[in-house]
Amino acid sequence: MIEIRNLYKVFGTKMVLNNLSLTVRRGETKVVIGRSGVGKTVLLRNIVGLVRPDSGSIKINGVEVTNLNEKEYNRLRMEIGMVFQGGALFDSMNVGENVGFVLNEFMSLDKKTVQEKVRDALALVGLKDVEDMMPSQLSGGMKKRVSLARVLCMEPHIILYDEPTTGVDPITAAAINNLIIELRNKLKVTSIVVTHDMNSAYQVADSIAMFYKGQVIADGTPDEIKNSQHPVIQQFIHGEAHGPVTEDENLVFGHVK
Ligand SMILES: Nc1ncnc2c1ncn2[C@@H]1O[C@H](COP(=O)(O)OP(=O)(O)O)[C@@H](O)[C@H]1O
Ligand SMILES: [Mg+2]
Repeated sequence: MIEIRNLYKVFGTKMVLNNLSLTVRRGETKVVIGRSGVGKTVLLRNIVGLVRPDSGSIKINGVEVTNLNEKEYNRLRMEIGMVFQGGALFDSMNVGENVGFVLNEFMSLDKKTVQEKVRDALALVGLKDVEDMMPSQLSGGMKKRVSLARVLCMEPHIILYDEPTTGVDPITAAAINNLIIELRNKLKVTSIVVTHDMNSAYQVADSIAMFYKGQVIADGTPDEIKNSQHPVIQQFIHGEAHGPVTEDENLVFGHVK
């Protein structure tokens, strides 16, 4: 469903994606783990075309997307939902307007149909009668749910989640994990979940890819990753300060000489 080959992205003098390849099968939930700053968000932004790669290939459903123009990409974006790290809700709009934004702006649907779709999407994420609330009145977990509902409104085939459980309490995190699993099972969506929450990774993943130095250094089932002897993976999944990855590594790796 998503096939990424030999992707490169440089910002200034920093090589963020360095010959990165990753395949996500149809209906699969692929979890991407790796340290802060390693390029996880940049990868998702490349997939939805908010950032364009310097070179390499991204195929979605068999179609090469790296050379699509903005108009063509917009059409594709209707099928790909991206749940942004901070929720990215419009502060001046209430929940209903936020969730129904794209439907209202870009689809020729009547008000009632939009309202129904908004209500259904909110119900999918376990929220009811919240349409009139403003984002500032919502907890972090509710914001994440609302931003997921906004994506679900579009009935996407692919959902990209950027750190869906970061900054929420453990109970909300468990609920979000269950939602991700439910959406895969019920709606058969293909997903990439970026996270550094290993609990969440083990729960939702069909497979886990580990990012390091701009590349995927391992890709396997949760058990395979758990049992990997690779020192970088061991250090990451156990959250150890000492190991091959040093604190200042992000400062030195990947610089274009
Ligand atoms: N638009 C941009 N311009 C310059 N540098 C960027 C841009 N977007 C991301 N970066 C840099 O790319 C690196 C990877 O960022 P990011 O993908 O956000 O990391 P993370 O793995 O934590 O999501 C960081 O060093 C970040 O500063
Ligand atoms: Mg990020």
